[in-house]
Amino acid sequence: MTTLFKNIKELIQVRTEPISFVSGKAMNELPTIKNAFLIVENGLISDLGSMENCPKTAFSEVIDAAGKMVLPSWCDSHTHIVYAGNRESEFVDRIKGLSYEDIAANGGGILNSAKKLQETSEEALYNQSKVRLEEVIQLGTGAIEIKSGYGLTTEAELKMLRVIKRLREHYPIEIRSTFLGAHAVPTEYKEHKEAYLKLLIEDTLPKIAEEHLAEYIDIFCETGYFSVADTELILEAGKKYGLVPKIHVNQFTAIGGVQAGVNHNALSVDHLEVMRDEDIEALKKTNTMPVSLPSCSYFLSIPYTPARKMIDAGLPLALATDYNPGSTPSGNMNFVVSTACIKMKMTPEEALNAATLNGAYAMGLEDKVGSITKGKQANLILTKPINSYGFIPYSFGTNQIEKVYLKGKEIGV
Ligand code: NIG
Ligand code: FE
Repeated sequence: MTTLFKNIKELIQVRTEPISFVSGKAMNELPTIKNAFLIVENGLISDLGSMENCPKTAFSEVIDAAGKMVLPSWCDSHTHIVYAGNRESEFVDRIKGLSYEDIAANGGGILNSAKKLQETSEEALYNQSKVRLEEVIQLGTGAIEIKSGYGLTTEAELKMLRVIKRLREHYPIEIRSTFLGAHAVPTEYKEHKEAYLKLLIEDTLPKIAEEHLAEYIDIFCETGYFSVADTELILEAGKKYGLVPKIHVNQFTAIGGVQAGVNHNALSVDHLEVMRDEDIEALKKTNTMPVSLPSCSYFLSIPYTPARKMIDAGLPLALATDYNPGSTPSGNMNFVVSTACIKMKMTPEEALNAATLNGAYAMGLEDKVGSITKGKQANLILTKPINSYGFIPYSFGTNQIEKVYLKGKEIGV
C-alpha cells in the first residue's frame, strides 16, 4: 500500500537528519518544504521532497493537498485520560470561590476521582476512556502518554494500567504508560504516608513489572502531597524495575523536585508553573525535557510556565495537555499550541516544535514520531486550506484540521 500526498502547500517539520529534540534558539527554526510531496509506504514515511522531484510511478492512493499543509501529528506526552466520571461539581465550587487546594483539603480533588474509579469496573473504565482517546485522535494527536494515579490501591492502579494496555492493543496510536501511584495520599493513610509508599514499592510495583504495565514512573512532588525525599525513594524503587522517571514538579511551589528529577535522570519534569532561577539552571545541559501544560494554567488560573525565560536560557521545552478530570478537562493540543503562543509568548515555530518533536522525546518516541522524516510513522495532520502554519495558533478555538492519519491510514469519525 503506497499513498502519495501531492501539491502540499507546505510540508512542516521536515527533519532529514534525525534529531532528538530542539532547544534554545533552535526552537525558533521550523524546517519546511513548500509545494511538496510525501509518500507513505506500509504506514511509514518513505519519501518526500519538492513537487518537481515527485516520482511519476503509480500509487495505490493519491491525495491532492493543494492549498493545504501537512504536519506531524501532535505528541501529547502528559495525560491522565483513563478516569471515571468527572469533577464538574468542583468546577462550580471553584467558580464560587474555593481554590483547587481548598477542594483537595476537603477530601475532593484526586481522592474524589480515586473513589469513583475504585467503584468502576475495568470494562466501564475502558469504555469511558476510549471516548477520550478517540476524541484526541480526531484533534490531531498521534502519540500519547497516559498515567495511572486515580486508583491509589494496588488493585485499582493495576485496573487503570490494564485499561491503558487495552487501549494500546486496540488503537493504532502510539501509547506510553506511566505508573503514578504516588499521586495523592489516600485518606486511610493520611497519618501514615510512609506506609502508603511502602505499599506502592513492595506490593504494587512488583505486580506492574510482572505484567509489563508501565514504562515510566511518576510522583506528584508538591507541598502537601509528596516531598523531595519521597520522590527520591519512589524514583529509586521504580528504577529497580526499569521504570524511567517522568515527574510532576513545581506546579504550586518550588521545593527542589526539578533537581531531584535531573539527579535521577528523569526523561521529563512536568508542570513548572513556578520556576526559580536555580531550577532553570539545574535543567541546563541535561537530557531531561521540561514539559509545560498551559491548559492546566488556563483552567486553574495559576501562572503559566515561564517559557520565554527558559527558552532564552537555552533550554528545550515540550508542550502537553495534562488531560484529566480535575485540573485540565481538555485534551486539545491545538488549544495548547495557541495558548503557548498567546499566554507564554512562544513563537508559532517554538510552539510547533514543542508540540511535536520535543513531545516525542518526552515519551521516548523520537525515533518513531514527531517529525516528517523517512522511516518515521506516517502520523499526520492534513490542514484545511490555510495560508501559513502560524494561522493554526492564531485562529485559537477554531479547528484547522481537515483529516488525520495514523500509520498512513485516514482515521474517520
Ligand atoms: O497534573 N497535579 C497533579 N495531578 C494532576 C491533576 C490531578 C487532579 O486534580 O485530578 C495534574 O494537574
Ligand atoms: Fe498531570
